[in-house]
Amino acid sequence: MVTASFYDQKISGRVLVVDDEVVIRILLTEILETAGHQVVAVESAETALALVEKEHFDLILSDMYMDGLSGMELLIKVKGMYPMLPVIVITGQPALDQAIAAMKKGAADFITKPFSADQIHHVVQKNLQELHLLAENQRLLAELNNKAVIEKLNRQLHQKISQLTKLYTLSESFHAFVDNRSLLQYVVDLASNLTGAQRVSLLSFDRRQKFLVMRASKGVSNEVLRRVCVKIGEGVAGRVAESLRPIRITSKEIREIDKTLPRPYVSESWLSVPLFIGGELFGVLNLTDKQDKSDFTEEDEYLALMLAEKAGVKIENNVLYEGIYSNLLDTLKALVSTIEAKDSYTRSHSQRVTETALALARHINCSEEDCESIAFAGILHDIGKIGIQDSILQKSGKLTVEEYEIIKKHPVIGDSIIEPLGLIEAERDIIRHHHERIDGRGYPDGLSGSNIPLLSRIVSISDAFDAMTSTRSYRQAQNLDYVLRELHNHSGSQFDPDLVHALVELIQTGKISVEAGRDSGDAQSGGNGQPAGNGQPAGNGPCLAPLFENAAGFPAEHQPALAKAEKA
Ligand SMILES: [Fe+2]
Repeated sequence: MVTASFYDQKISGRVLVVDDEVVIRILLTEILETAGHQVVAVESAETALALVEKEHFDLILSDMYMDGLSGMELLIKVKGMYPMLPVIVITGQPALDQAIAAMKKGAADFITKPFSADQIHHVVQKNLQELHLLAENQRLLAELNNKAVIEKLNRQLHQKISQLTKLYTLSESFHAFVDNRSLLQYVVDLASNLTGAQRVSLLSFDRRQKFLVMRASKGVSNEVLRRVCVKIGEGVAGRVAESLRPIRITSKEIREIDKTLPRPYVSESWLSVPLFIGGELFGVLNLTDKQDKSDFTEEDEYLALMLAEKAGVKIENNVLYEGIYSNLLDTLKALVSTIEAKDSYTRSHSQRVTETALALARHINCSEEDCESIAFAGILHDIGKIGIQDSILQKSGKLTVEEYEIIKKHPVIGDSIIEPLGLIEAERDIIRHHHERIDGRGYPDGLSGSNIPLLSRIVSISDAFDAMTSTRSYRQAQNLDYVLRELHNHSGSQFDPDLVHALVELIQTGKISVEAGRDSGDAQSGGNGQPAGNGQPAGNGPCLAPLFENAAGFPAEHQPALAKAEKA
C-alpha cells in the first residue's frame, strides 16, 4: 500500500543520462548528483544501450533527438530488455507530440526543455519511488505466495501424517483378526473409510480356474455379488490381476471406455490395486464412486496400496498360522482316534458326542460361534486320556479307587494339553468341565448349576447319551425307554434340566436317534443291556458311574468300585 510517508522518502538511484549536448549532460549530472543520485552520462543512444546491457541502472533520462539512434529507438530497445526500468524522455517544446508517442511506447514520464532543477528532482524522485514501491510489492507478493505455498504444503503434510497415522493405527488392529474371512471384510471397510469410496470389493485369485472371485464387499448389490466372476485380463480388476499394477480411472475416462470395458457395475470413478501374498497375486481390491463424486487421487492409490500390503502380510501370517494350527489339530484328533480305537467299543465316540452336542446346541438356539466351539472342542473333549495308562483305560475288570482317581485327571490333563493352543475360553471349558455335575458332585472342579459353562453342560449330557446308546463290551446299547428314564431320573442332579428337556424333544421328534451308537462300526446288536444307572439314585452309588464314566468308555464292571470310591 502506498502511503504519504512513503512518497516523502528520498530515494537515491543510479541514473543514466543520455544526451548529445554536452551542456545538458553536465547540467543534468550536477542536478542529479546534488540530489544524491549516482550519475553516468553518455552522448549517444548506442553507448547507452551498450552500458545498459552490462551495468545496472535504476532510471534512464534520455534526450529524444540525437544523432544516430534516436531517443525513441533507445526507449523501445530498453523496454524490450528491461520492461520495469523507467525511461524518462526529454523533448523540446515543439516535440510534445513525440513525447506523448514515447509515453505510449512505455516511457515513464517526459520533461520538456527548458527544464528546472526542481522539475528534474520531482520527476526522477517520483519514478524512483514508484520503482521502489513496485519492487517492494513484488517482494511482498513473493513472500505471500511463499507463505501460501508453505501453508498449503503444511496442510498437505498434516493431512498425510493424519492419514498415515490412521492407516497405521487401523492396520495395527489387524492382529485381532485370526480368521481371514473377517479380516478381508475389515480391509474392505477400512478402504472405504480411508478413501471415501462408496463401493468396495475384494476379489481373490483362483489359480486353478484363473479367475477372480468375490470374497468381501461393501455397498455392492446382492445381484452383482452373485454374478461377479472376473476372468484374468478382463475388466478393470482382471487387468490389474494380469498386469499386477494398480489402475486408476477418472470419471471422464470411464465414460470413454464404458462401452468397451466389461465391468460388473457402472461407476463414476474407479481404483483397483493388486494384493500380494509372499510376492504372488492373492487378489484385487476395487474401490469405486467416492462420496464427494471426485476422482480417486494419487493419495487414494497410495493408501489403498499400503492397506493391501499390510493386509497381505496379515493374511499370509494367518494362513501360516492356520496351517500350523490345522496340522496340530489334526494330530490331536488323530491321538483321540488312536485312544478310542484301542477299545473297539468306544471308536468314534468323540465324533458322535460332538454331533449330538451340535444338534442340541442348535435346538436351543446357541450362537454360530458356540456351535463352532462345540465342533472344535467336542472332538477333543477326552484328549486328556493321552496321559492315562492303557492298562487303566482298557481294563476290563473293576477299577480300584486309585485307578479311578487317575481317570478323573483326564479333563485337567486335556486342559493342560490344549492350553498353549490359545483356544477361546468356551472351548477350554468344554474340555475341562465335561464331567462336572449340576449338583456339584462332578469333577475336576466340583462346579454346580449355572457355574458350569453351558457348552460344557451340553457336551456332558451328549457324552452320557452316547454312552447309554452305544454298545459296550459289558452290555448292549440301551433302548429308548431306558435312555429317557435315565435322563429324567438324573435331571437336576447330573444333568441340566433344560438340556434334558431339549434332548428328550430331539429324541422324541426323531432328530436324534438312540440307534446312532448301535449303528457305529463297533456296535454289537442284541437286546437291552443292564440299566446304565443300575436303578440307583444319582450321587448315591453305582448309577453315578455309567453316567460319569461309561460315556468316556469305562466298563460297567467298574461301578461297585467307583461307588466305594465315592463313599470313601
Ligand atoms: Fe471324559
